[in-house]
Amino acid sequence: MKIAGAHCRSVWLEPDGWSVGIFDQRHLPWAVERMTLRTPDEAAHAIADMATRGAPLIGAVAAYGLALALRHDASNEGLDRAVSLLAEARPTAVNLRWALQRVRAAVAPLAPDARTAAAYAEAAAICDEDVAMNRAIGDAGLPLLQAIAERKRGEPVQVMTHCNAGWLATVDWGTATAPLYLAHDRGLPLHVWVDETRPRNQGALTAFELDAHGVPHSMIADNAGGLLMQRGEVDMVIVGTDRVTANGDVCNKIGTYLKALAARAHGIPFYVALPSSTYDPATPTGADVPIEERSADEVRLVSGPDESGTLRRIAVTRSAARNPAFDITPAELVTGYVTEAGLLVGATALAAGLGG
Ligand code: MRU
Repeated sequence: MKIAGAHCRSVWLEPDGWSVGIFDQRHLPWAVERMTLRTPDEAAHAIADMATRGAPLIGAVAAYGLALALRHDASNEGLDRAVSLLAEARPTAVNLRWALQRVRAAVAPLAPDARTAAAYAEAAAICDEDVAMNRAIGDAGLPLLQAIAERKRGEPVQVMTHCNAGWLATVDWGTATAPLYLAHDRGLPLHVWVDETRPRNQGALTAFELDAHGVPHSMIADNAGGLLMQRGEVDMVIVGTDRVTANGDVCNKIGTYLKALAARAHGIPFYVALPSSTYDPATPTGADVPIEERSADEVRLVSGPDESGTLRRIAVTRSAARNPAFDITPAELVTGYVTEAGLLVGATALAAGLGG
């Protein structure tokens, strides 16, 4: 990704060699602000409060959070305590626990004084692998866009996406966005319908990214998707995911399921992009995934900068509200899974491709 012309990732080690840098995504797209994490509590809070977010990215930040914890207490008890603290930050995306277990497995057999360096190395490996997997997802998804472009003979390929499964949700490239960036870079005519994604408006993050990369796009209200599909203005849907279960069910940002239903009703392909770190064969079906319930205030209030640039929260209602943050799209609505192992169709192919 590029911000102000400079290439960077969504998580990095600061020049001191130990503290961890992230963008404070609570202020995007209005302000690009970096923040530094120095303790596991700061890392856990940044994840819980969504200063950093997106399934692969919270895994990477949690991995570094564990390294931060081990600097001060590398005992077995310290390791267990830090894993619990970070794992509890958010419940739904499997990447968080996957990354913590991976770092734990790498450091637990070592003597305490060797653990911190090993944890930093494992966190760095998780980041590098995430970038490589997303790049491979781009290669796997590109032919889908090319096939539509050929059929449309120069008319832009109309793609719809929900939430932010871009570089801000990963270490770089993004999952659902990687094929879009590759296609755009190769000159494919493309236009992206970006769902607003209430209540946290992750669509604004996707729009920010696409804008920075020069990809033509339009933001739409979440409920506009059905009409656009009905009118033939959508060629394909591609989304990211926080967890895909053994039977191929897809847990993703609330509202994804409605898009999948509408896509099926109109014969539009619905693709899910995921790296293997998001595949959870230990969880049988979507019904077994813990769905995060966030504060009702996220629904009751909208936030944005006022004319002076100060962030304000404005009330929409005083009524009671409910805020489930994710939903489940049944496997039968998924046309294919775009992965680092290629395009996989069906739960059996998914298990063979990503199962390991
Ligand atoms: O609540 P968030 O913003 O962390 O949710 C993010 C999503 O649902 C993304 O679409 C998903 O994590 C895929 S990210 C590559």
